[in-house]
Amino acid sequence: MYTQENGFYIAHGPNGPISILGNMANRHGLIAGATGTGKTVTLQVIAESFCKAGVPCFMADMKGDLSGVSQPGKLSGFIEKRLPEFGMNQEDLNFEGCPVRFYDVFGEQGIPMRATIGEMGPDLMARILGLNDTQTGVLNILYRILDEKGILLDDVKDLRSALDWLSKHAKEYTTQYGNIAPASIGAIQRSLLHLENQGADKFFGIPSFDIQDLMDTRDGRGVLSVLAADKLMLQPKLYSTFLLWLISELYSTLPEVGDLEKPKLVFFFDEAHMLFEDTSKALTDKIEQVIRLIRSKGVGIFFISQLPTDIPDIILGQLGNRVQHALRAYTPRDQKAVKVAAETFRVNPEFKTEDAILELETGEALVSFLDEKGAPSVVERAKILFPLSQIGAITEGQRLDIMNASKDITAKYKEHQDRESVFEVFAREAEAEAKAAEEAAAAKEAEKEAEKEEKSKKKEKSLWSKVWKAVVTAVTSTIAAIVGKKVSDSITGKKSKKETSVKDAAGRAVKNATSAAGRQILRDVLGNLVK
Ligand SMILES: Nc1ncnc2c1ncn2[C@@H]1O[C@H](COP(=O)(O)OP(=O)(O)OP(=O)(O)O)[C@@H](O)[C@H]1O
Ligand SMILES: [Mg+2]
Repeated sequence: MYTQENGFYIAHGPNGPISILGNMANRHGLIAGATGTGKTVTLQVIAESFCKAGVPCFMADMKGDLSGVSQPGKLSGFIEKRLPEFGMNQEDLNFEGCPVRFYDVFGEQGIPMRATIGEMGPDLMARILGLNDTQTGVLNILYRILDEKGILLDDVKDLRSALDWLSKHAKEYTTQYGNIAPASIGAIQRSLLHLENQGADKFFGIPSFDIQDLMDTRDGRGVLSVLAADKLMLQPKLYSTFLLWLISELYSTLPEVGDLEKPKLVFFFDEAHMLFEDTSKALTDKIEQVIRLIRSKGVGIFFISQLPTDIPDIILGQLGNRVQHALRAYTPRDQKAVKVAAETFRVNPEFKTEDAILELETGEALVSFLDEKGAPSVVERAKILFPLSQIGAITEGQRLDIMNASKDITAKYKEHQDRESVFEVFAREAEAEAKAAEEAAAAKEAEKEAEKEEKSKKKEKSLWSKVWKAVVTAVTSTIAAIVGKKVSDSITGKKSKKETSVKDAAGRAVKNATSAAGRQILRDVLGNLVK
């Protein structure tokens, strides 16, 4: 229940109702506790309260049990027992479900929720792919090059094609960006293949999710967007990075709104420890910054985790509204965690925080919300209200009904589309390159052929000139011999025994000629000479 004066009624302590103040709900929160202590139901109670006040919420459903928020609840023995403690009667109870939209990154249990690889950015993508610093550097370069070229990076086949392209063109960018090692590109390609084998390719592409769809209300109530995360959480990096992307999208898309009477959207981040596992200091700093600044956009974030120590101090320090369910202290490590959790609360002289954490029953918690000055209130031991929606999972049929009711949004995201992006651009480029290479090869071949022809022509020419020379030499010497003999005979008056005619000499000359062709020429020349 929400009133402007008291805020969102969540729990009931020895001194009466305990509420989250409307204008403090964007100061973020924490729901912690051991397994089975009531975290999911607390989340449901808080979300239901926001929903009724017209504040839409986003939440990930890790086990399917949060889907019950869409159906009316019913009176259980547990609830019946608590009614008098809350000062309520059965007649006061108005069980009802909340307006819900189911989402699913795999597109099976809800509306497909996608992001493009470009929107995800190189750092978040590197986190999903589990890349080291060097590989992350290469991915950053690739994003930069594509950005400069103005090419969109949408889905897995785009990234694969971009990596193939980079491996071929890496040398061209070495001077500008430093060494781009083939081994790094290979490692990214392998990680991408692994991601694809896990079905994550469904998750990247267009139409990508429009953050505005999280901001809907129905009949004055905030729509609860519930992301089916049972399958997704098996890939903790993908799950947590996707939620982080949603938060950063909200941050960059929504306008500054300053202090509001109540938030515009509340975001629940279950299994929040997954976000901080193997997370670099740089990324943790970025997360801290986004969480700090998103407040001014009217967005409140609740982290849900088993231990408060799962969350880095720098972020824990920003979570003003806290619900701490019971913790177990079986090992010295557990005991230490309990001590640390207790120390995060403002002491209540009525009880010892550390002891209380160990004693809490299911659905009971240590609660401290921010007061009107923004300071944490003294910790109280309180019973969390019960939800008026169903506790626990819904049936397949009920889910289908809700999915059918969100057909307008489903239609918007249903079909995975393909627009002109890296894959298409580089495929065309490769085709043009192959065509150019083919043409160049053909031109070279033609050139070779022409050269060959030219050479053989030259060879023929030089043969002819050799023949000609031989003919001329032979003819000249024969003529000289004939003429010489004629001249000497005419001087001496001598007549040879056998009359040597010019014709006979010419015949000899022809015999001396080297080739048949040469002989023919010689014959012609001599024929003319002796006529
Ligand atoms: N505030 C409550 N009102 C009524 N019932 C509750 C409440 N809190 C817890 N319960 C009961 O306790 C059960 C366990 O609670 P819940 O599922 O919220 O635990 P959890 O901490 O989320 O466990 P896990 O870590 O395994 O997810 C619920 O199914 C419900 O029956
Ligand atoms: Mg739970």
